[in-house]
Amino acid sequence: MKGVILAGGLGSRLRPMTLVTNKHLLPVYDRPMVYYPIQTLLNAAIDEILIVTGGEHAGDFLKLLKNGKHLGIRHLEYTYQEGEGGIADALKLAEDFADGEKICVVLGDNIIEKNIRQAAAEFYVQPSGARVLLKEVPDPQRFGVIEFEGAPGDSPVKRILEKPSDPPSNYAVTGIYFFDETVFEIAKQQKPSDRGELEITDVNNAYLERGELRYNLLDGWWTDAGTIESLHRASNLVAEAGANRVDGAVKFEIGA
Ligand code: G1P
Repeated sequence: MKGVILAGGLGSRLRPMTLVTNKHLLPVYDRPMVYYPIQTLLNAAIDEILIVTGGEHAGDFLKLLKNGKHLGIRHLEYTYQEGEGGIADALKLAEDFADGEKICVVLGDNIIEKNIRQAAAEFYVQPSGARVLLKEVPDPQRFGVIEFEGAPGDSPVKRILEKPSDPPSNYAVTGIYFFDETVFEIAKQQKPSDRGELEITDVNNAYLERGELRYNLLDGWWTDAGTIESLHRASNLVAEAGANRVDGAVKFEIGA
């Protein structure tokens, strides 16, 4: 399985910092934000990685990550998203890289305490379809939210709603997704949402309609880091708990 990190976007909720750098290069406690999704993939033994970035500061990723060897990445590629077409639009750029294999997609501003090994292991043996990771949150209206068929967290998914004002549950869809090779055909069929973007939630709902969306509940804390509040929270959580540094995780060298 290959890994794709989506690290484009304008980062408009983090201005003025994002006027001079890409959001995913901003510090979260003691390291650049993009190190965390890299660590998430490496902890699941996914070491062929594509970074999808964009905007004016895309070149800075090369300065930081180089060929990735010093971080334990076996093979690192980069690609560039023109414009602001949304997550599902960025994903389309990964088709050649995936080359028919299953992929794990991680949003570059998603930080987790533990690891995704269990979900990855289950996806390896899942014959086809997609798998999402869910987390119970106090503010579901900020995310993609699950409506369950029955008991929340313990029954099949009925549908996913993107940032609903009246959330049907407290279970958010985190920015960590497993897809089979059909994801690119699905993404190409999507139409822009009201905010003018191709939504990853529509892609997941397409798998759901085919009866091929599974889920795992994510262990440990999860946060995004795309707003001032969540970036601050992410730094505090990492400082207090040491995100991604448990369980025999690959450790980055200080200063790497
Ligand atoms: C995106 C997705 C949303 C998901 C979230 C996770 O939202 O659209 O479904 O719950 O990432 O971080 P964004 O915050 O990029 O608008």
